[in-house]
Amino acid sequence: MGDLLMPDVLRVKSRLRDYQVQFVPDCARAIGDQRNTKAFLIIDENLPFISKLAKFFDNNNIIYFKANEHNKTLGRCSSLMEKLVTKNIRRNNVIFAVGGGVLEDVVAFVSTVLFRGVEWVFCPTTLLAQADSCIGSKSSINFGSYKNLLGSFNPPAKVLIDVNFLKSLSPQQIKSGLGEILHFYLVAGKVKLAARMMAQHKFFLKNPAALKPFILVSLKIKKAVIEKDELDRGERQLFNYGHTFGHAIETISNYRISHGEAVSMGMDMANYVSWQNGYISEKIFWDLHHILERNIPAYQIKAKQWPQYLQALSKDKKNIGTALGCILTRGPGKMFRTQLPFDDHLNKTLVSYFGNR
Ligand SMILES: NC(=O)c1ccc[n+]([C@@H]2O[C@H](COP(=O)([O-])OP(=O)(O)OC[C@H]3O[C@@H](n4cnc5c(N)ncnc54)[C@H](O)[C@@H]3O)[C@@H](O)[C@H]2O)c1
Repeated sequence: MGDLLMPDVLRVKSRLRDYQVQFVPDCARAIGDQRNTKAFLIIDENLPFISKLAKFFDNNNIIYFKANEHNKTLGRCSSLMEKLVTKNIRRNNVIFAVGGGVLEDVVAFVSTVLFRGVEWVFCPTTLLAQADSCIGSKSSINFGSYKNLLGSFNPPAKVLIDVNFLKSLSPQQIKSGLGEILHFYLVAGKVKLAARMMAQHKFFLKNPAALKPFILVSLKIKKAVIEKDELDRGERQLFNYGHTFGHAIETISNYRISHGEAVSMGMDMANYVSWQNGYISEKIFWDLHHILERNIPAYQIKAKQWPQYLQALSKDKKNIGTALGCILTRGPGKMFRTQLPFDDHLNKTLVSYFGNR
């Protein structure tokens, strides 16, 4: 795998400002080297290694955030801004954000609107955040029952990736990151690499730091697309593959299913709908299913939950009018955008997906 020889620094071009993604052997040391006295730390309060990082900051400049999907709201962003303002943050101060995708979304949003822009540095601590969300400039905030409805584009000034952080993740969180990596690989047509990674699924659940080369490839795939379509008007939308069906799974499971596991199931569902609509053969569906299956949660939608699932799908922000906006496939590397009418055919296809599992 030539990608194993990739450098430890990626430079990402952005319409707003270019930024660097740096793989570091010890994030605490890197933060210690880079922060100054005016720096603030916003850190996920659940992390087991907080004290290693907090010692570099003035106590007054540290804010602990309870990172979970229910706290990814305007209300929480507002109270975070209130804390920062009370602590006398200034426009030229820097915020270090340490945590997963939830903390990233919240800090990215706050950094966009506070003083119309405060510099922030992101240290991702989950596999999902290291392999996916740390680049791309997006922040997404939930609004009422709508997931990721609000947001902004505001890249960090720098991303510092320490794969040692991954060692304390739960297997479910590692699966979540694997789901996002898989989706990049399939969109890019890298089926063999996806299969190779999933063949070592058990090993990676115990040794997630060994995923570094796979994280690099994932970021490289995303970088190539976001540098052409950062604002998500065209090609980048193909990365919604698996997300439309997956988001609705996350919602009705009340977020008991992690994001990337739901995306794995969502890709399987998108492939199934593609097969049922004649875009791929049964063989391609099963070939892809066998790659994805170890990452798909054993989750069944019960009959009485169907209206709830369809309602969650109908709220997806990619929908146009009454049709479901989603990404289907003509095979690996051949994803396409389409609109599916919310009709009996779609309903029956989705019901039969769960019947066939
Ligand atoms: N902005 C984007 O481009 C983008 C892209 C993909 C996903 N997302 C969003 O990211 C969110 C999911 O992110 P996530 O999976 O990183 O979830 P998360 O931030 O909620 O973290 C998951 C759990 O792991 C814990 N945790 C984090 N790092 C840890 C570590 N090193 N050791 C032990 N526990 C740790 C957290 O406290 C939390 O309980 C979703 O809200 C999704 O919408 C955003």
